[in-house]
Amino acid sequence: MIFISETQIFVAIALVLYNVNSLHIIYLQGGLVRGENISLASGRHMDVFRGIPFADVPETFMKPKPHPGWDDVLDTTEFKDICLQVSVAFNLTIGSTDCLYLNIWVPHNGSVSSDMPVMVWIYGGAFMIGSSMGTHILSFTQFSGQELADRGNVIVVSIGYRVGSLGFLSTGDPELAGNYGIWDQQAAIAWVHRNIRKFGGDPENITIFGESAGGASVSLQILSPHNKGLFKRAISQSGVSASPWTINKNPREYAVEVTLAVNCPTDERMASCLKEIDPVALTLAGSFNLSSCAREPIVYHLELSPVIDGDFLPDHPSKLFHNAADIDFIAGVNNMDGHAFTSIDVPGVNIDLLPVPVEDVEKLLTAYTKHKGDAAWHAALSLYNSTWEPTPSQESIKKTLVHIETDFLFLAPTQAALKLHADNAKTGRTYSYLFSEPSQMAGIFKPFPQWMGAGHTDDVPFVFGKPFSAALMYLAHHRDLSGYMIAYWANFARTGNPNEGELSAPATWPTFNSTGQDFVELNSKMNESYVGENMRKPFVDLWNNVVPSFPDIIPE
Ligand SMILES: *[C@@H]1O[C@H](CO)[C@@H](O)[C@H](O)[C@H]1NC(C)=O
Ligand SMILES: *[C@@H]1O[C@H](CO)[C@@H](O)[C@H](O)[C@H]1NC(C)=O
Ligand SMILES: *[C@@H]1O[C@H](CO)[C@@H](O)[C@H](O)[C@H]1NC(C)=O
Ligand SMILES: *[C@@H]1O[C@H](CO)[C@@H](O)[C@H](O)[C@H]1NC(C)=O
Ligand SMILES: *[C@@H]1O[C@H](CO)[C@@H](O)[C@H](O)[C@H]1NC(C)=O
Ligand SMILES: *[C@@H]1O[C@H](CO)[C@@H](O)[C@H](O)[C@H]1NC(C)=O
Ligand SMILES: *[C@@H]1O[C@H](CO)[C@@H](O)[C@H](O)[C@H]1NC(C)=O
Ligand SMILES: *[C@@H]1O[C@H](CO)[C@@H](O)[C@H](O)[C@H]1NC(C)=O
Repeated sequence: MIFISETQIFVAIALVLYNVNSLHIIYLQGGLVRGENISLASGRHMDVFRGIPFADVPETFMKPKPHPGWDDVLDTTEFKDICLQVSVAFNLTIGSTDCLYLNIWVPHNGSVSSDMPVMVWIYGGAFMIGSSMGTHILSFTQFSGQELADRGNVIVVSIGYRVGSLGFLSTGDPELAGNYGIWDQQAAIAWVHRNIRKFGGDPENITIFGESAGGASVSLQILSPHNKGLFKRAISQSGVSASPWTINKNPREYAVEVTLAVNCPTDERMASCLKEIDPVALTLAGSFNLSSCAREPIVYHLELSPVIDGDFLPDHPSKLFHNAADIDFIAGVNNMDGHAFTSIDVPGVNIDLLPVPVEDVEKLLTAYTKHKGDAAWHAALSLYNSTWEPTPSQESIKKTLVHIETDFLFLAPTQAALKLHADNAKTGRTYSYLFSEPSQMAGIFKPFPQWMGAGHTDDVPFVFGKPFSAALMYLAHHRDLSGYMIAYWANFARTGNPNEGELSAPATWPTFNSTGQDFVELNSKMNESYVGENMRKPFVDLWNNVVPSFPDIIPE
């Protein structure tokens, strides 16, 4: 006789239900992969894959190559090594050259999903540091896709790419062309397009998104002819192709410094010698030199960056927007994105007791108009000081320093990229935002001044739902804003329109065109009236039209 207890029946039913909610083992080109199935507080289920290889272990200064494949089932339950990079003090390295992996979060609602929108995250870090999972301590993972995938009902993918010397050193010629990290990103995007259907994703509904150097990378990926048909939409947060730190127009100069530092000759043997050098030594040699930042703003020391290589970028980015004519594009900035740079260039900006002289404003503008000379400098200074008191207060001076860096490094280039995108668009839509939620580090007895707005990277935790998953670090109004941003981002990934999809948000986000230049302001207090037009127009005009109109006194 066979007895079947109620518990056994319950377990059997639970298993059936459970099985419906997981992808089991997935068969890919390279072999079989098995992820981890988790059940969420929302009652839904999710499959998480950590560390799927999308390319082989890369050779130094070579484009990524396809992975040779594997036998047996690959258990993808642990994040893989981050790409080799300098550590905090710039004198040690962390990570590995075996780093071309991606992670996938697949939500299931009742049954295994199919044809889901896909969002591919490209991290920032000045093209020098960063990783697909971000800061990863105990159960906290900075770029965990779990919350965004669950609340947005989208598949989230995060990808690794080479950084520092190994990712971006270039001799400015085909021998060592550069853009290795950008090719890694491209290989990962192509992998997602080829394979994501097996995970329930819709390969025709892929959005790439990223912040800072990741936002600039996104903006370059949409311009490259190599990506035709691989994705439909893109979101650049605080970084675009037009940012003054995105493209190094004279990469050889810095390559020579690195070459000398690793004792290679700088003649015709340079590239072949560099390819034989230990990756750790190359990475250390291509770190940056903080002590030399005393003379010039730090942005002029970010030299390892993408290049116009005649291949990935056949021309200057501004000439390639026809390649993005059918891409839906969101780009935006944080209202004090430049603060991170001001904090290094003029550290007094964060110290209330330390007065900062007007000369620091003048010096910063001298540096940022150096190719144009006095006339451009006067135009810039008289605009930035136009709202000052006769004897400017410390707050006026310090805020002005932050605005100059924000406008020059982020806001004006983002408006230029949006305008080029809108002007070249066919079916592609264009959307602009300003993120203005004040930094949590601002206030009395806090590291940043009381008037501090949204600093660089402050937007990222809201997109990844950290106010929900790390609730103790945030307040209720932060959860409101996180919900709004997830709604806009996931709707956009689903339909190409941030207002249309499964989730609703407080303001109808208007499209951007070059006459109105409409934008939405993202803030926890936002309501339907948080839309504007012509963001900081006089300042955008200054950097995009007035300053460039003066003749060069030093060639760029
Ligand atoms: C879910 O994961 C557990 C291990 O954590 C495993 O025993 C189970 O078979 C998995 N279920 C499915 C449907 O893959
Ligand atoms: C790296 O720099 C830090 C801070 O300057 C110093 O304390 C440490 O000893 C250095 N480590 C090495 C390996 O040079
Ligand atoms: C999940 O499924 C339920 C029932 O099928 C549906 O009402 C709900 O909208 C779905 N949620 C999402 C986020 O897809
Ligand atoms: C993307 O998904 C939406 C909603 O599921 C669908 O209507 C659309 O046809 C898909 N493809 C593209 C290219 O938008
Ligand atoms: C860093 O820059 C300073 C000032 O320009 C220079 O003297 C020093 O040699 C540099 N150090 C390295 C390691 O390049
Ligand atoms: C503003 O800048 C102009 C230089 O372009 C200068 O002549 C003027 O005195 C400055 N005003 C204040 C209030 O500093
Ligand atoms: C551009 O946007 C403005 C709103 O700011 C709108 O009035 C105008 O019709 C738009 N132009 C086009 C061509 O869509
Ligand atoms: C929207 O918010 C602003 C300020 O935050 C407020 O002045 C305004 O009344 C609000 N509008 C609506 C329609 O609620």
